[in-house]
Amino acid sequence: MDAFGNAALDFLNNDHDEFIYVESKTMEDDVIPVEHLFRSLDQMPDCEQKAIEITKGKVLDVGGGVGSHCLVLQEKGLDTTMLDFSPGLCQASIKRGVKNVIEADFFKWKTDQKFDTLLFMMNGIGIGGSFELFQKTIDRSFELLNEGGQILFDSTDIAFCYELEDGSLSLPLNLDYTGFVEFKLKYKNQEDSWFNWAYYDADKIIELLGDAYNFEIIHQEEPAYTGRITKK
Ligand SMILES: C[S@@+](CC[C@H](N)C(=O)[O-])C[C@H]1O[C@@H](n2cnc3c(N)ncnc32)[C@H](O)[C@@H]1O
Repeated sequence: MDAFGNAALDFLNNDHDEFIYVESKTMEDDVIPVEHLFRSLDQMPDCEQKAIEITKGKVLDVGGGVGSHCLVLQEKGLDTTMLDFSPGLCQASIKRGVKNVIEADFFKWKTDQKFDTLLFMMNGIGIGGSFELFQKTIDRSFELLNEGGQILFDSTDIAFCYELEDGSLSLPLNLDYTGFVEFKLKYKNQEDSWFNWAYYDADKIIELLGDAYNFEIIHQEEPAYTGRITKK
């Protein structure tokens, strides 16, 4: 099952259930309007727009969905590649006019290409949902980046989801970190498998990066922010 992909292809064929349902083991269940994936630059949150503004050079959009950010960047004349492991999302991106689409797992993709900006939009830096996979994401990213290259991402501090009225945090006992979540996506009575994701607050990013990298907050709209990571 490819919930995001099927929803996106249906949307393009004007046959759509309007929502993807997101079940969570630790937080309240949520919905993603399918239309949100197809957002234009104006419809993107400011955190994403700020990332687009400072995107430079040859771009890889990791987990690029239906290619919304790629289409904006292509329009601006940037050489842009969208990578996603969902077959349906890749097909939808091609149908929408994204020129370079790679269907692959970010961690396994074999390539000689190098990029100047890696984009991780919609909390994409939390791919894999563990500290170990964060480290792999950073290592893999800098293998793919040219000298002077940058990672741009938006993320959200979701600690507020566990805040009690007195301001203290009530964290589920099975969680090592407030930003870890386990999701399952459902679309049209079909469901994907459970998967892990992470929403990293800026302090945690700094802690996980250690000394070898620079980290800047480019824009903040609490609890969300746009971050940039470069090599020292
Ligand atoms: C939260 S969605 C964001 C989609 C898009 N960036 C956007 O802002 O609309 C995360 C995306 O990452 C993709 N993804 C997750 N893990 C991946 C992996 N290991 N390799 C490639 N794509 C992955 C999913 O298929 C999904 O499209």
